[in-house]
Amino acid sequence: METLQTAFPIPFYLVGDVISESENNVLVDKILSLSETQTKRGGTAWFSGKNSPKTNFEVFGLHEHKEFNLITEKVTYYVNNFAKKHNSLRTFEATEGWYNVYTKENYQEFHIHPLSVFSAVYYATFPKGSSPTIFQNPVIDMFPPFPCTTPTDFTRDKLLMYPPGDRTLVIFRSFLHHMVPSGTNESPRITLAYNFA
Ligand SMILES: [Fe+2]
Repeated sequence: METLQTAFPIPFYLVGDVISESENNVLVDKILSLSETQTKRGGTAWFSGKNSPKTNFEVFGLHEHKEFNLITEKVTYYVNNFAKKHNSLRTFEATEGWYNVYTKENYQEFHIHPLSVFSAVYYATFPKGSSPTIFQNPVIDMFPPFPCTTPTDFTRDKLLMYPPGDRTLVIFRSFLHHMVPSGTNESPRITLAYNFA
């Protein structure tokens, strides 16, 4: 008997239609209006500097802003569902929240979200030409069995996460390296990012 087992899986939690289209439109308008007066790009922490998305990172916490209660509560609900899939007995709360407005040439380098257990990205808009969030496989493999005809979940060196569409949420463990390459989108790719501990 032969059995193929996989060990050390990396879980991702995907949720579609997190809020309704009309609720999302209100959210997008709110973010676009806030980002008009936004002078910071990526705060002081991001290497992407002037090519960072417009963001409120290091300006104010979205998770404490009551205008964003609806989406924060939804994200918190799904993060705790994901925690339950880990058999966790804890309830997790948002410790940080920020929006990102990417137009072409905006990007963010590979990074992790320190001091958090779970992180979440909600895709409010994902127009044509937008870049996916790219997650790096944390397994260090010095000698993978390349070449392969087609990469599999256990031979690929990177995992490309294409959000299935607008109003989609991706939840992941905060230690995972991820980045957003620059895109070709003319209209803004808008995400909300949260950390939970
Ligand atoms: Fe991130």
